Amino acid sequence: MIDFKYLAKKYGTPLYVYDFNNIKKNFTNIKEVFKARKSLICYAVKANSNLSVLKYLASLGSGADCVSIGEVKRALKAGIPKYKIIFSGVGKRDDEIEEAILRDILMINLESEAEFNRIEIIAARLNKKARISIRVNPNIDAKTHPYISTGLNENKFGVEIDQAKELYIRAKKSDYLEPVGIHFHIGSQLTDLKPIEEASKIVSNMLKSLKYLDIDIKFYDIGGGIGIKYNDEETIRLYNYAQAVLATLKGLDVTVVCEPGRYIVGNSGYFLTTVLYEKKNSGKRFVIVDGGMNDLIRPSLYKAYHEIEIVENDDQNRSVCDVVGPICESGDFFAKDVQLPKLKQNDLLVVKSAGAYGFSMSSNYNSRGRAAEVSFEDGSDRLIRKRESFEDLIRLEKEFL
Ligand SMILES: Cc1ncc(COP(=O)(O)O)c(C=O)c1O
Repeated sequence: MIDFKYLAKKYGTPLYVYDFNNIKKNFTNIKEVFKARKSLICYAVKANSNLSVLKYLASLGSGADCVSIGEVKRALKAGIPKYKIIFSGVGKRDDEIEEAILRDILMINLESEAEFNRIEIIAARLNKKARISIRVNPNIDAKTHPYISTGLNENKFGVEIDQAKELYIRAKKSDYLEPVGIHFHIGSQLTDLKPIEEASKIVSNMLKSLKYLDIDIKFYDIGGGIGIKYNDEETIRLYNYAQAVLATLKGLDVTVVCEPGRYIVGNSGYFLTTVLYEKKNSGKRFVIVDGGMNDLIRPSLYKAYHEIEIVENDDQNRSVCDVVGPICESGDFFAKDVQLPKLKQNDLLVVKSAGAYGFSMSSNYNSRGRAAEVSFEDGSDRLIRKRESFEDLIRLEKEFL
């Protein structure tokens, strides 16, 4: 059990707390369901990119799925071997592509013909052979929130199947490209297995057709997206997920790559925030806390639900309220129309399932320093990122009169 009251007192709030034992359990669960095959779990760094989190995952054998050269550098700094690092993303700058090639990572996951051309030109200039994978867009509706649905042709991600095939044929003939992988990722927070199964069928069929063309793809990258329980969602059983994918790979000798982010860290993280006061506007009750949308933007951005627990308060006399932050935006809230007891200054709230896309999406909006981050493992806590100070906020600015 994590003593949230103790941690809030020791480090202050707003505060992120990550349960490393739970991260380990989740990582091991995923590795386990793919054990019948060669597999590589490349944790999606964007979900939570704290160096200690990455280092911990590196120690468990994780690779990394990165979407910027900054994430690639984080992964390398954390000790993730270069041969386990993938560089994905729809818009890579030339300097990022160049650095990825020079650092000799496992593969660059490209998402358009234009990017294919850039990578080939840059690799030729460096006189290197760039290992590539193509993110194919299977045109499948992932049935998740539109902002995190990525597998339809109308989305900006990936390359349509027919075009991807042409690009593989070109890559095979290129002196500077080596096609080693194929990739799809149809969305995040997936709770329905069917679209994944369908996407995998489409992509594995394509893989088979590439085999006929003597294009030997070694890495079958199924992306991330495994949904977690925030509220009362029915989630996918990991075993069924793996079996559904593996069933489409019969007769193919590939390493399965999986890029989970949310599944590994989402329910391993807690956001602690303290009540400042309550107020009523035209009879509507608001609980105002010291954390804001700059710390945890998911409710504002996706209307995402996060369960809120009040520490040491089991008062059953509850009434409806919104839990809001201090930011000057009406969209600054953690919960709307929830039943909570009367709260007073310094009461502590724990916002659950905050480990993924929490701190990593945080900002300095309203000149607020970002929250501190703490790890919790085997009963011990450690500060893994200091709270930002005012000096941190202005460090890179220059004053002109
Ligand atoms: C290409 C890719 N892989 C993996 C992920 C991780 O997704 P999740 O955190 O839902 O597992 C994402 C998320 O957007 C992604 O775009």
